[in-house]
Amino acid sequence: MTQNQTASVFQSEEFARMLREAGSAAFPPEEDSSERQAWYIRKAQELVRERELAAGRKLTVCVVTFGCQMNERDSEKLRGILRLAGYADTDSEDADFVLYNTCTVRENANVRVYGRLGSLTSFRKKNPGMIIGLCGCMMQEKEAVQKIRESFRYVNLVFGTHNLHRFAELLVSALMAEKGEQIIQLADKAEGIVENLPAERTYPFKSGVNIMFGCNNFCTYCIVPYVRGREISRKPADILREIEQLAADGVIEVMLLGQNVNSYGKGLDTDCSFARLLSEVEKIDGIRRIRFMTSHPKDLGDDLIEVMRDSEKISHHLHLPLQSGSSRLLKKMNRHYTKESYLDLVDRIRSRIPDVSLTTDLIVGFPGETEEDFLETMDVVRQVRYDSAFTFIYSKRSGTPAAVMPDQVPDDLVHDRFDRLLAEVQTIGRQQSARFEGQVKSVLVEQINRQDPGLVTGRILNNLVVHFPGDESLIGKITDVYLKKCQGFYYIGERV
Ligand code: SAH
Ligand code: SF4
Ligand code: F3S
Repeated sequence: MTQNQTASVFQSEEFARMLREAGSAAFPPEEDSSERQAWYIRKAQELVRERELAAGRKLTVCVVTFGCQMNERDSEKLRGILRLAGYADTDSEDADFVLYNTCTVRENANVRVYGRLGSLTSFRKKNPGMIIGLCGCMMQEKEAVQKIRESFRYVNLVFGTHNLHRFAELLVSALMAEKGEQIIQLADKAEGIVENLPAERTYPFKSGVNIMFGCNNFCTYCIVPYVRGREISRKPADILREIEQLAADGVIEVMLLGQNVNSYGKGLDTDCSFARLLSEVEKIDGIRRIRFMTSHPKDLGDDLIEVMRDSEKISHHLHLPLQSGSSRLLKKMNRHYTKESYLDLVDRIRSRIPDVSLTTDLIVGFPGETEEDFLETMDVVRQVRYDSAFTFIYSKRSGTPAAVMPDQVPDDLVHDRFDRLLAEVQTIGRQQSARFEGQVKSVLVEQINRQDPGLVTGRILNNLVVHFPGDESLIGKITDVYLKKCQGFYYIGERV
């Protein structure tokens, strides 16, 4: 019933010590710290145990993640705490605690959450002690929280991105709440970074690592800076310590996460660029693969390209969101690059890293987009030849500058452009993906193939998926595979 049989909770030795010591303290430490959260985990353990005794079985929790890799990583932190508190993980929403970690980047993300919340009421009828919780980006929006207060009274717990590090405390409040009480705790801005909290690891051999939080770019269509707050970088020493501990615990691949990793280090006392951080991570024994996302084209410097080129460990993959190929629209989007400077950047990258995989995000239907603007986007797609691209229909987010721009594009035009763009992106993506056919590449094996248990599934260094005959013993290992045939966006291979 667990989401992943191999999932385990990772906690540093310091945190394990805090948890032991928390047992002898009558009150939690006042200061906002990992010690304080350790105290609350102990408290949650007692409360979960009481409920278990009453129910005569182990309690279950289902954390559902919407949105991006930031949210995926946050969910691992939430699950880490829930597992330490005594809950068993399940992927069924018929659980004792269901927690939706929400996204609000586009309107339909919100609509999906409201729809799914409705379907939880039947589970609650069968299990009146069930806790329903909401957290994540959508909860940083006042209107969404107001709607939960008014129309979804049965939601027990609401918190946002800025107080997620206090989750153990919030969990205790939810477990102690009166029947029908709705606990809503939100913070307007980040309260600093609390290091050292535990996290579940879905795979024992790879892990995401946050290197920064928030975003300062204020692209005019985007709600992320409003719901995730100002950009703040973790100290290099804290990041490197976490990765060393992960490596000691068997992790061989890390994914460094930030909304714009290229601006890493701004505001820190120590002078450390993202390229410098990468070279430090590269030195850590045991780490064999390094990935990162996302790179904003405006801040991607030659130092990063050179570190990538010279590295054996850093993935030759850049996710380089273009959004639009029209310089006129890029200006209105506040992206700080032009079609020409983007293409120039791609040339600089390709000339130094010829086998690089480039992927992107594209928005269709930004206010004022004309057919000519759209054709500029198609032109960049044809020139760059992305391995893959996420294509999005522009979604109006209230509070962002673009929401009140004139000339919102009619739906039928947008859908027509979207279909044309998707078809182009897919045709090129298939051709690009096939370019390694016939080559031998090292593959990190991730899991048994979901459809055919005689196959395993893994990824080559620049992220393309390969399926090949193999068994469980290969999971978490890096092995050489002959890429026999490309089928769309993945390969069928053979071990050599
Ligand atoms: N920080 C990352 C992206 C975060 S959001 C970056 O800058 O690349 C992921 C993607 O969602 C964006 O790249 C953009 O393409 C898309 N997106 C953001 N806001 C949107 C909106 N209002 N409508 C449609 N797509 C949007
Ligand atoms: Fe949004 Fe732009 Fe920040 Fe990315 S860089 S999260 S698109 S504001
Ligand atoms: Fe969504 Fe928040 Fe990520 S709005 S895209 S989950 S940062």
